[in-house]
Amino acid sequence: MRIIRATNPTEAGRHTATIIASQVTLKPDSVLGLATGSSPIETYKYLVEWYKQGNLDFSQVYTVNLDEYIGLPADHEQSYARFMYNHLFDHINIRPDHVYIPNGLAPENAAEGARYDGIIKDLGGVDLQLLGIGTNGHIGFNEPGEAFITGTHCVDLSEATILANSRFFESADMVPKQAYSVGVQTIMQAKRVVMVATGKNKASAIRDAFCGPVTPKVPASILQLHPDFVLVADEEALSLM
Ligand code: F6R
Repeated sequence: MRIIRATNPTEAGRHTATIIASQVTLKPDSVLGLATGSSPIETYKYLVEWYKQGNLDFSQVYTVNLDEYIGLPADHEQSYARFMYNHLFDHINIRPDHVYIPNGLAPENAAEGARYDGIIKDLGGVDLQLLGIGTNGHIGFNEPGEAFITGTHCVDLSEATILANSRFFESADMVPKQAYSVGVQTIMQAKRVVMVATGKNKASAIRDAFCGPVTPKVPASILQLHPDFVLVADEEALSLM
């Protein structure tokens, strides 16, 4: 595990974008595993800026997103699909048929999980996985529990996650209670994993994930076992390490 220390979220975003940009430059048909939420926003801003300057080409890139709320159509303003188009896909030259996100309206959990895992397998797996971390240590929507779940699955979101994500909705009641999430196998099989974490509210999750035992009670702790894991974090997120 390597740690890149940034002084603030903007710098963390620039470091993270640099890693993604090198990946795409060295392997133009890379499969990128992407995340939503506030953590990658700065990263996506840099990628869009460098694309607009002519320094990046996404025409051969494939993307597979980590998760999607169950019950929200892709065009809902709070869906993760909408987030990805707003922050990245609408501003770069990625082909729409190279973009994969779990279908939040899929009626049957097991079938959607198998479909999504099949897509990732057919693409040859993920080259570079971008992650944030939940305040409870979740990655994707792999919530704290008794066991690590391997494949794409339906998750009952924890109270902590619903509360954390209520900032994007009118109230906590409006936050969907379930989501589809890729499992830890997809994340751990990615050739490289990069996590971006900023702010004081991530400090205890970062400490528990990387200074404690590997346990499904802190899902991100499994990344201690990944052979090519980079944590890009600001001073505040690293303050308890
Ligand atoms: C989002 C995702 C989540 C977030 C995490 C942190 O696709 O998979 O694991 O990365 O909840 O969210 P933010 O960045 O909003 O603090």
